[in-house]
Amino acid sequence: MTSTSSGERYRGELRYEGKAKRVYATADPHEYIVEFKDDATAFNGVKKAQIGGKGQINNAITAHLFPQLEAAGIPTHFIEQLSSTEQRVRAVTIIPVEVIVRNVAAGSFSKRLGIEEGTPLNHPVVEYCYKSDALGDPLINSDTALSLGWATEGQLLRIRELALKVRAFLVPYFEQRGVRLIDFKLEFGTTPDGAVILADEISPDTCRFWDSQTNEKLDKDRFRRDLGGVEDAYAEMLRRVTAPVDG
Ligand code: C5P
Repeated sequence: MTSTSSGERYRGELRYEGKAKRVYATADPHEYIVEFKDDATAFNGVKKAQIGGKGQINNAITAHLFPQLEAAGIPTHFIEQLSSTEQRVRAVTIIPVEVIVRNVAAGSFSKRLGIEEGTPLNHPVVEYCYKSDALGDPLINSDTALSLGWATEGQLLRIRELALKVRAFLVPYFEQRGVRLIDFKLEFGTTPDGAVILADEISPDTCRFWDSQTNEKLDKDRFRRDLGGVEDAYAEMLRRVTAPVDG
């Protein structure tokens, strides 16, 4: 894969740098450029490494999925892919509430509640976390978000509705591609006119993907848990996400 950067000529000042992405202003105040990095962190930045090709793969997977979510009635910030690692997006103010949707027990849910990983949940679980690197994105509830002014009641209702709509699209999408969507994390932003839209990314960094046949992990848990084969798992997910499906 080549690393072109046709977005460079549009890039203005760096507005935000997160663990996996940089966000740049552009000449148009309504648009940003997002650059996906190869940097990987886990355990709130304690574990750091580079995953070769990750920026390109996460950019490509997100650029493939977001227009389909948009077509399914979920408004997103995505405008177009600019280069192998960059995309043009609508400028939003990120709501500092990360939304996790769980279909199968895993990760922090299993640890917190003593439920064996892989236990199917008979109802989708929507969780909220406060987006704060300094605090390690702690679990909150909607009252906390309301009382601290991070989101309004209307925004929280909309976020939940959209998160479940994303789930309804993604679960069968991945199922058709031999992948179980165990859980995933979403971020939302507000536009100047007050609409809540899907932002950030959907990728092996932000989702748990298990192979439908073998339950092999095809996501960032391979890095978090030192399972090896990280790059191969990301490349395999890109292949499955973009491959045409029969029927
Ligand atoms: O670690 P935990 O089980 O809470 O993660 C649930 C899901 O949210 C996983 O798919 C994980 O990749 C994602 N996540 C994330 N960013 C975080 C925390 C979790 O993308 N800061």
